[in-house]
Amino acid sequence: MATGNKMDSFEEEKCLQDYKHVFYPHILEGKVAFITGGGSGIGFTIAEIFMRHGCNVAIASRNLLKLQAAKKVLETAVPGRKCFVAAMDVRKPEQVKECVNQILSEYGRVDILVNNSAGNFLCLAESLSTNAYRNVIDIDTVGTFTVSKTVYDAYFKANGGIIVNISANLTGQPMQAHAASAKAAIDSLTKSLAVEWGPLKIRVVGVAPGPIADTVGYSKLGGSMISEDEIAKDIPLQRLGTRKDIAHTVLFLASDLASNITGTTLTVDGGSVLTSSRSMNALVEFVGRTPRM
Ligand code: HXC
Ligand code: NAP
Repeated sequence: MATGNKMDSFEEEKCLQDYKHVFYPHILEGKVAFITGGGSGIGFTIAEIFMRHGCNVAIASRNLLKLQAAKKVLETAVPGRKCFVAAMDVRKPEQVKECVNQILSEYGRVDILVNNSAGNFLCLAESLSTNAYRNVIDIDTVGTFTVSKTVYDAYFKANGGIIVNISANLTGQPMQAHAASAKAAIDSLTKSLAVEWGPLKIRVVGVAPGPIADTVGYSKLGGSMISEDEIAKDIPLQRLGTRKDIAHTVLFLASDLASNITGTTLTVDGGSVLTSSRSMNALVEFVGRTPRM
């Protein structure tokens, strides 16, 4: 849907077709999860998989129309489960606080926080303004801290909980100085919070996806210029990741199966971080002939 306002445009999401449970279908029964950026992409599929496992969810980001459309699709696909939506910008602490208060008024609890909101684009460091660099750090890293701290103050400190930070398998990729810095800081934050908050029964973990098909992140990073088969050749498991791969990993980490796991970030990339070429020349060409995305 497009309204003419850049911020209001979005592609309607679709749920997984013919979903078959691998995990026990009631593994998150009675739980509530707050997923930032859950109106699109990987966050949307995390919300869907959580709902399919008995969880009620709250999704929040800047674009309320997109969130409302996602809610409709999710509640239709998973009858009996609720999806609460709220508009907020993770860079604005007062909006985050209001959003968390609304979630607590709606559900009376929040058991799982998934910090999934992020912003990214391809840009060589030499062309990156300080504001552009800071903007990505503000959304990804400071946003992850702000939302975590807000949920901690409002609920986790007294009740315990689980935080899953969505990171990325970025090691020296060109045109990703901003996102790579932001995600490395998130991985470090995962460890620090796990140590400080562990005694309060709060687990803090991360998931670092490789390239994930059918996402904004993938198309923004040049996915549209190389065929998926070409990309897959560079990956040990010979395929791109799927949103379902990431959502199932988040489900595992958020479940009791992972009750002794904290302070670590699990890479889910088919091994690509070990082998993939950094595609410098192709990326430079792509950025040179593509309008800003
Ligand atoms: C260079 C850019 C740029 C680009 C923006 N900027 N786009 N610089 N190349 N393509 C600069 C602007 O010029 C400005 O700096 C500063 O960044 C802020 O830009 P705004 O447009 O004002 O920012 P804002 O409206 O807040 O939008 C944030 C955004 C946008 C990140 C730029 O793309 C966004 O909202 N993205 C959300 C969705 C998204 O990106 N999803 C993908 C996540 S995937 P100046 O100096 O001019 O003021 C992901 C993958 C991780 O994270 C790793 C995978 C391997
Ligand atoms: P996406 O659909 O664009 O998801 C990002 C979400 O963040 C959007 O729903 C967006 O919603 C929200 N967001 C952006 N800025 C925000 C802000 N200031 N405040 C609140 N919410 C904000 O992209 P995706 O590819 O699924 O990415 C999801 C996560 O996976 C990200 O953390 C990303 O870094 C990570 N990741 C993705 C890939 C990949 O291949 N796709 C690889 C590695 C890691 P609004 O626009 O409504 O605010």
